Amino acid sequence: MPRRPLVAANWKMNGLKASTGELEKIIAGAENLADVELMVCPPATLLASFAAAARGSRVAIGGQDCHAQASGAYTGDISAEMLKDAGATAVIVGHSERRRYHGETDAAVREKALAARRAGLVAIVCIGETHAERDGGRTREIVRTQLDGSLPDGAADFVVAYEPVWAIGSGVTPTPDDVADIHGFIRDRLTARYGEAGRGARILYGGSVNAANAKRLLTIENVDGALVGGASLKADEFLAIAGAYGARWSAISLS
Ligand code: PGA
Repeated sequence: MPRRPLVAANWKMNGLKASTGELEKIIAGAENLADVELMVCPPATLLASFAAAARGSRVAIGGQDCHAQASGAYTGDISAEMLKDAGATAVIVGHSERRRYHGETDAAVREKALAARRAGLVAIVCIGETHAERDGGRTREIVRTQLDGSLPDGAADFVVAYEPVWAIGSGVTPTPDDVADIHGFIRDRLTARYGEAGRGARILYGGSVNAANAKRLLTIENVDGALVGGASLKADEFLAIAGAYGARWSAISLS
């Protein structure tokens, strides 16, 4: 089953109104990247204005987190319905920084993924082992537990992002063989649980993806795109990463 690659920018807690210029460059560059879906997940303060700027373009806008409830007395939180209302079409849930700094459990992440579904957003569900877990030979066990606990039952209408915690922001990445192995493992788990539909779900790789390693990491079987942090803040580098999937962009950027 062909899966259209998705390259998503996770801006984390970065970006001011002045960053709109980067989005505009991404929107312009996206015109040359017909083979890949592009998404920018800005901080919530920029979501509505980014969605307005991206309307009618080839760039989708996503949120970085959502609350499980649709509304209520949850000071400081933002619901999936609110993200949708602001123009988002997707939301990242269970990022390792949310798990680590906000104590989010697999069960909480699953509730958020269900909230995204309820609101009509695609949930980008993040999983991945820590350095200690990897050193302890527990990568598959952790990935299996997080998949089982974080993904909602029913439709395979989500995107999975495999992001080894030790690779995030570190400049260190797993070897292509390791990526192929764990993405194959994730694919097997998805098809075991969701049947044929599990073959259609996209599995992104995330963790220190940049323009120099994109081709090597993103052209591996069962790697259906990337979730990009630091390297997504500059439009040129983000577009070069997405260019791993688009010959047309590579041709243009080299000319
Ligand atoms: P990074 O972050 O690309 O800066 O490593 C990826 C992520 O946390 O999604």
